Amino acid sequence: MHRINKIANQLSPSTEELKSVETSGCPSCPAPYNGVAKVLVTGAAGNIAYSILFGIGRGKLLGPNQKIELYLLDIPIMADKMKGVVMELKDCSFPIFTKIISTTDYKTAFTDIDVALLIGAKPRGKGMVRADLLKANANIFKGQGKAIEQYASRDVKVVVVGNPANTNALITMKNAPSIPPSNFTAMTRLDQNRAISQIADKIGNGVQVGQINNVIIWGNHSKTQYPDISHGYLTCKKTGKVVTSLKSAINDEFWIDNTFISTVQQRGKAIIDARGLSSAASAANACLDHVRDWLCGTNGRIVSMAVPSKGNPYGINDDIIYSFPVTCSAGNYTIVKLPISMKSYQRMKKTEQELVEERKVALSI
Ligand code: NAD
Ligand code: LMR
Repeated sequence: MHRINKIANQLSPSTEELKSVETSGCPSCPAPYNGVAKVLVTGAAGNIAYSILFGIGRGKLLGPNQKIELYLLDIPIMADKMKGVVMELKDCSFPIFTKIISTTDYKTAFTDIDVALLIGAKPRGKGMVRADLLKANANIFKGQGKAIEQYASRDVKVVVVGNPANTNALITMKNAPSIPPSNFTAMTRLDQNRAISQIADKIGNGVQVGQINNVIIWGNHSKTQYPDISHGYLTCKKTGKVVTSLKSAINDEFWIDNTFISTVQQRGKAIIDARGLSSAASAANACLDHVRDWLCGTNGRIVSMAVPSKGNPYGINDDIIYSFPVTCSAGNYTIVKLPISMKSYQRMKKTEQELVEERKVALSI
């Protein structure tokens, strides 16, 4: 008991951090944009879009109080399918939407856009690794970066979901040089959510995902990513107070170093093997979490986002999009500086190396 209290004191988050666990994404979340926000979803006829669009309609992207003008973009052969999706969105009568427009034209899609969800890309199939998609998808993100440069709001917030997400975000950012680099992010929230769920199952005893805090994803959204529990802690369901570190709650170092890390790293493949298709609903859900936390804030709670690495406090290469622990407030994020063990550092460098290699390939295309 004494040991648990000691750990709890060391890890004790501020009251603000504890409050945030309950308040993030709450129904009273104020609208982050004055008036109507213009939101673009690319790959709008695809599988992820078919889930995320209805989440946006239910207020899960920018909170339920933000009116949205929704733009859907896909390639010309998907135009009819997109029209069907628009019919279904209209049939939901979501009060949040002031307009819904589907298009295959970049100018129509990107003009004055405030939030761009870049989902449209080829997904990997069985037997492929995500890096195999680099050549197939790089040109899409080059073109969309240029469209952002030319047409979007100067404060557009971009999240790239299409794989390989980190390097596609880098390509997009480099093709939109007049937009602040910090506005370009890639999604590792799905990995964070997967990690938390694995941990809740492992601890058992009725522990719920909402009690698990500060699980970090470092690096690339790929099999080299480093899901890290070493800063994590468990909070009490009733009081929200810190109970113990995740390491103590799990109490199985072999599981952490082996089963846990590789399960999270390989989860995308496991889903493709089981479904014959890549994850869609969970990816859509994670993208909603990513944007809502970024725009509405995390109140001190740490989440993982892949962001430009320039000036990061960990000595990670300066010109990649790397997943770090961040806190967010009103559309800004701050990379959180935490103490790092040698074992963690080696894992962080391994995934950095993969991103540096991907960058070389991307820049040569
Ligand atoms: P999907 O094949 O069902 O849909 C992709 C859609 O993108 C298609 O409708 C396609 O026509 C469209 N598209 C292709 N080129 C386009 C372009 N230039 N502009 C606009 N739209 C275009 O695929 P999906 O399951 O929706 O997955 C989309 C992407 O998301 C894939 O790359 C997949 O690997 C990736 N993904 C990422 C994560 C993550 O955590 N980052 C998770 C799951 C999937
Ligand atoms: C995922 O993690 O589910 C996606 O990135 C799809 C994939 O290729 O693994």
